Amino acid sequence: MISLIFNQIIKLSATTSIIKSHIQEMEKLVSSWCKNKPLPESYIFPPETRPGNLVVPTCNTIPVIDLNKAEGQNRTHIVQQILKAGQEYGFFQVVNHGVPENLMNESMDVFKEFFEMPWEDKAMLYSEDPKNSCRLSTSSVNYAREKIHHWRDNLRHPCHPLQDCIKHWPQKPVRYREVVATYTIEAKKLGLRILELVSEGLGLESRYFGDKLSESEILSINHYPPCPDPSLTLGVAKHCDPNLLTLLHQGDVSGLQVFNNGEWIGVEPLHNAFVVNIGNQLQIISNNKLKSVEHRVVTNSRVARTSAGFFIGPSEDSIIEPEKSLVDDAPFYRAFEFKDFLLHYFPNLEDNEVVMGHFKSQA
Ligand code: OGA
Ligand code: NI
Repeated sequence: MISLIFNQIIKLSATTSIIKSHIQEMEKLVSSWCKNKPLPESYIFPPETRPGNLVVPTCNTIPVIDLNKAEGQNRTHIVQQILKAGQEYGFFQVVNHGVPENLMNESMDVFKEFFEMPWEDKAMLYSEDPKNSCRLSTSSVNYAREKIHHWRDNLRHPCHPLQDCIKHWPQKPVRYREVVATYTIEAKKLGLRILELVSEGLGLESRYFGDKLSESEILSINHYPPCPDPSLTLGVAKHCDPNLLTLLHQGDVSGLQVFNNGEWIGVEPLHNAFVVNIGNQLQIISNNKLKSVEHRVVTNSRVARTSAGFFIGPSEDSIIEPEKSLVDDAPFYRAFEFKDFLLHYFPNLEDNEVVMGHFKSQA
């Protein structure tokens, strides 16, 4: 009996110390300390990369594409619109995309609710190990090494294969798993549909990206609390996405900016739309016919912003190289294994030229 109690005490104290270390680490989350505090020095970007003037043109320059029209006689026109947007901006928005509006809203609600929960409900998910299959973290993957932190908290997890992944997802809010499972299935369907249109535009067979090249699905939910001085910091510093294609649900609060023609332009939040952007792998496979373009996130002092990126990408063992039929003279990139791209990407995240330069062909 005594030893039973003793064992229980040991177990309890082990659990308590795990929870304690989680609490200490969790204090790094911006949302856990930022209320009524000035912007700490470690969040102040150098003058050349801080946003400074926050009034950027949000003009309707980034194309908005109506996917309803892709099924009728306008299909070629839509394919051309997608290709042109992918070449010029690396970004476009899609409306009438087939993901039900109530599912978009319900997912956004459940994402927000997750971040609003008390810390006890989130503590077990906090992790600084990027290999953890579902993890809550803050700033970028380089938190321990980076000079300046980013004003965001993040929850990310893989979504495929669903039956293996879902057991690692948050258990609270209680409807999280059900809502998010439905959402990721719909988002994948939409992503594949867009990739089919891209394939058609590039003159490839419509299922070209349908298999290994789009096998990985990662959901990454960002929470940007209101910030005391948005002119000095960033939610996410400039970067390109390392995957094939990203579908972003940015809710109703602006913040996303895209680099175009030497200036930052804001991507206007459109209710019930997805922001779609070309990842590094789609640029490489298309031999630069499509562009992965740098983007960043600015914060604001009024309201919290929540966004959810759905990253579709190759399986880690996929061999990536420019598609032969898209190479005119010489390929711009050499062949490589996707996992090697990721190894090189994360330490160089903020410098797309360095990332892509490493995979350029020598010819
Ligand atoms: C990203 C990203 C944009 C946003 O997570 O890669 O670019 O609006 N997010 O949160
Ligand atoms: Ni991004």
